Amino acid sequence: MKKKQKKMAAADSAVKVALLGFGTVGSAVARVLAASKFPGVELTHIFNRNVARKRESEAGKAVPASVVWTEDIEVVLRSKVDVVVELMGGLNPVEGWIRKALASGKSVVTANKQLIAYRGASLAKVAEKHGVQLVHGAAVAGGVPVIPGMLQGLSGDQVTRLSGIVNGTCNYILSRMEAGADYATVLADAQQLGYAEADPSADVDGYDARAKLCILSRIAMHAELDPDAVSTQTISAVEAIDFSYAKELNSTIRQVSRAELNGRLVHARVAPMLVPLTSPMAWSHGTQNMVVVSGRFGGDVVFSGHGAGGEPTAVAVVSDLLAVAQGCGVVKLPVRRREVTGDFFAPHYLRFVVDDKPGIVHAISGALSKVGANIDSLLQRPGYPKHKLPFVVTTEPCLTSTIEKAMASIAKMDCMLERPLCLQILVPEDKPE
Ligand SMILES: NC(=O)c1ccc[n+]([C@@H]2O[C@H](COP(=O)([O-])OP(=O)(O)OC[C@H]3O[C@@H](n4cnc5c(N)ncnc54)[C@H](OP(=O)(O)O)[C@@H]3O)[C@@H](O)[C@H]2O)c1
Repeated sequence: MKKKQKKMAAADSAVKVALLGFGTVGSAVARVLAASKFPGVELTHIFNRNVARKRESEAGKAVPASVVWTEDIEVVLRSKVDVVVELMGGLNPVEGWIRKALASGKSVVTANKQLIAYRGASLAKVAEKHGVQLVHGAAVAGGVPVIPGMLQGLSGDQVTRLSGIVNGTCNYILSRMEAGADYATVLADAQQLGYAEADPSADVDGYDARAKLCILSRIAMHAELDPDAVSTQTISAVEAIDFSYAKELNSTIRQVSRAELNGRLVHARVAPMLVPLTSPMAWSHGTQNMVVVSGRFGGDVVFSGHGAGGEPTAVAVVSDLLAVAQGCGVVKLPVRRREVTGDFFAPHYLRFVVDDKPGIVHAISGALSKVGANIDSLLQRPGYPKHKLPFVVTTEPCLTSTIEKAMASIAKMDCMLERPLCLQILVPEDKPE
């Protein structure tokens, strides 16, 4: 590996670079490279399907005339390119092409969170075997250097937990709901602005964030998690009224991705949670990302900034590219496969909408006490009709699985008009059991 890196850094000619994918990030990378003209780096190939329309685009016209445009991946794989920058996304066919690029002695820079969350460990082995690098600093939090910051700046600590806001779409939706808008309106706006896909499930149901949480857990806690085993909860069940109640509890609501090391087990969850107004996570608005990393020796470190967008992400990609081109090594520590549980020992926020009848509170508290959960407070705002009455119960800290057991029986009560909502309340001192 060292031999190859030295050769790349010391070569007289520039390090040759191919871009796979000329979309939002790919075209921004080409723009940044053309504008900054970094010495020792030369863009030589751009691969995309139906390449003619990309070439004729505004971004395409700014690409140097010497660059080879192709829609045949073999042209890139058989070329003398030193670094492949993958900005297409998804697992197929990208994974196979990345394996081939690494095996043919090309380093790879990618921003592809799905690829790294699901295949990162095995691709890292291929890179190691062939003495090349696989770098993915832009795969989480776009332009916020959380991955390089953790690798270079926090590897000396023992990170025990991390939590953050890593999905800009959810943060945009929830922070606008906090300001009074309703979910459907904000989602439609997010789709119009290009923040959310036509099918928003990957974002709002937590799948995008859990891929990122798994990458962060691997880097920060050296824990390899199966992304499909990480619990997720949709933000689409959160309603305007929940923000009113959250405010009464000196909190707001954010989609939080959190992981905590507990011996050989990792507690990990992506869900809307109540976040105290004093937490840095409550201060992040719009598409901003934020990650708080807690280490045994160094305490808390907060990363924050633009989590997405062509140019912020391109900055992270080009920074990775420069590091690879200059032969800068990346810190590597052994990673271990860990089992995952979605259970956290925390207080919980429970919201019910009922057709009000005498005895409902008694029945709910009975179901909670049957599983050993204690009520901490009961909140009921005035002004709602009795036949559709929302109210909230908060519990003292207990396991989420315990509360979910009680919620399953409460949901079956005749008076329940909607599926009750259960959210963890994030407090600095809550610990997994
Ligand atoms: N956008 C962001 O803010 C951001 C932030 C962090 C990380 N990322 C990651 O960066 C990567 C790229 O994202 P993006 O937003 O730039 O996506 P994008 O705008 O959809 O660009 C992807 C490009 O790859 C091309 N492409 C996709 N599949 C292909 C295939 N099978 N063969 C040939 N060309 C193919 C697409 O061509 P068509 O135009 O024909 O579809 C498009 O030009 C993803 O992994 C994403 O998760 C993005």
